[in-house]
Amino acid sequence: MKLENKKIMITGATGGLGSEIAIKLASYGSELILVGRNESELNSVAEQIHLHDGKARIIIADLLDSKVLNTLGQKVFNEVGHIDVLINAAGLMSFRSFVEEDAEMAERIMRLNSIVPMLLTRQLLPAMIKRGSGKIVNVGSTFGSIAFACFASYSASKFALRGFSEALRREVKGTGVSVNYIAPRAIKTPFNTEAVYKMAKVVGMNIDEPQWVAEQIVKSIKKDAKDVYLGFPEKLFVRINSILPRLVDKALAKQNNQMAEFAKQE
Ligand SMILES: NC(=O)c1ccc[n+]([C@@H]2O[C@H](COP(=O)([O-])OP(=O)(O)OC[C@H]3O[C@@H](n4cnc5c(N)ncnc54)[C@H](OP(=O)(O)O)[C@@H]3O)[C@@H](O)[C@H]2O)c1
Repeated sequence: MKLENKKIMITGATGGLGSEIAIKLASYGSELILVGRNESELNSVAEQIHLHDGKARIIIADLLDSKVLNTLGQKVFNEVGHIDVLINAAGLMSFRSFVEEDAEMAERIMRLNSIVPMLLTRQLLPAMIKRGSGKIVNVGSTFGSIAFACFASYSASKFALRGFSEALRREVKGTGVSVNYIAPRAIKTPFNTEAVYKMAKVVGMNIDEPQWVAEQIVKSIKKDAKDVYLGFPEKLFVRINSILPRLVDKALAKQNNQMAEFAKQE
């Protein structure tokens, strides 16, 4: 897809990754519609884009507020006209054993990471199909293919997002709309707590810089990629886990106990 003059709506635009994706896309001449809850942080991302002569506007929205979510598509159409690309990058995570998980948090994670992208897509998709062009980009995770102990809610939410992306891609084939599911491994952003960073160091988890991940996401949009898994050996483990999950159970056994120890610090 050519990015010049494309109207790209991105949720999680104030996040460590979302802001980098937005800034990068703007440098290719796309017009960014930045969605988030925090007005001053949204303005600060928009200002960075404007400083480099890019185009950006902000939309303040708490995506966990059903009333706000259900009217967001119409609000965007009224203010922007149409959307060429929707990037679902807003996300939430918790790191704790599932018996310790707060029930409300589990619901918020499932809602923001999987149901919100589905419902937003549902609002924007008919117009994309009508125009015969459009793209849905879902930011997943390695945890959407390999489920990890002490990340049960998060893993479940990203598995759901991956399943949705696959089904939708098959469904819209031939309409001019495409679906891109991109799964980064860990990224150095405020998303991860101190306990996660400590655990990552001990178990040897690879952590990427958000600028690099944003660059890969923009490349995958330009290339019209379908599923993209970032980082080696993670992309290999994703394949092994899908074919030989019992092997991965064994490989992760020691790590599970280490993770549980750090999760207690949350
Ligand atoms: N960081 C990682 O290690 C990692 C690895 C793999 C995949 N990912 C995925 O990458 C995506 C971006 O993560 P990140 O690292 O950029 O996280 P982040 O820095 O914590 O940013 C999270 C973003 O989600 C938004 N958000 C949270 N709750 C919201 C709500 N109720 N309504 C609207 N927006 C809300 C936040 O906006 P506010 O300003 O409103 O808080 C923020 O922009 C997520 O989908 C995550 O699952 C991250």
